[in-house]
Amino acid sequence: MSSDIYRIAIDGPSGAGKSTIAKAVAKKLNIDYIDTGAMYRAIGYKMSVCGVYPENQEAVNSMLAVTDIDFDDGCIYLDGRDVSDHIRTPEMSMMASVCSTIPEVREKLVEIQRGMAERKSVIMDGRDIGTNVLTDAEVKIYLTASDEERAQRRFLELQEKGDPQTYDEVLEDIRQRDHNDMTRKLNPLRKAEDAVELDTTGMDIDQVVDRVLEIVAEKTA
Ligand code: DC
Repeated sequence: MSSDIYRIAIDGPSGAGKSTIAKAVAKKLNIDYIDTGAMYRAIGYKMSVCGVYPENQEAVNSMLAVTDIDFDDGCIYLDGRDVSDHIRTPEMSMMASVCSTIPEVREKLVEIQRGMAERKSVIMDGRDIGTNVLTDAEVKIYLTASDEERAQRRFLELQEKGDPQTYDEVLEDIRQRDHNDMTRKLNPLRKAEDAVELDTTGMDIDQVVDRVLEIVAEKTA
């Protein structure tokens, strides 16, 4: 790896603000942002559109063999089509969580993710970036916040989109996804031993971005 290239891995539970923070940090550092959650969502979307059930391994494999995922200008392309506006619903959150437990899905996406980080500096967020995808990342950050604060942030986001979910439903959904993500057999969500933990409860976006930039500066000095 060339010495002027660095990779920033951001992991943490749903609603911790990973994508908002990673996007802002990418802009400040002028590097690419790779949203791996969006990739699991895109697979979940394709499975629901094509009527592929997670337990039908043969159908999942056939589908994966003809699936292409890429990013361009902040949008995610599934088989050449921009699906960014279709993958952020509560249904797709659940589909992504379910399909992220399928070994063949993880294998395919991890390979694409490693390829994307091969020859350039990137900031990549997800659940297993520091522990599996980019184990040798120069910077690893584990971003958390209390369940209630994460639910409140997601609830406000959904309200803005006109989604009718209540706060209690969003909190329940967040806890269910935490449970799925932390207890699945394959690459469960956990803090990498060499990751810096950053609890963002009570912090605003600018404060978190500044703290992440400080950590990056320290680790890449
Ligand atoms: O970050 P997100 O909410 O968009 O992620 C959607 C789902 O994808 C989440 O429930 C866990 C899964 N995921 C994963 O298993 N590994 C990743 N690197 C990223 C996301």
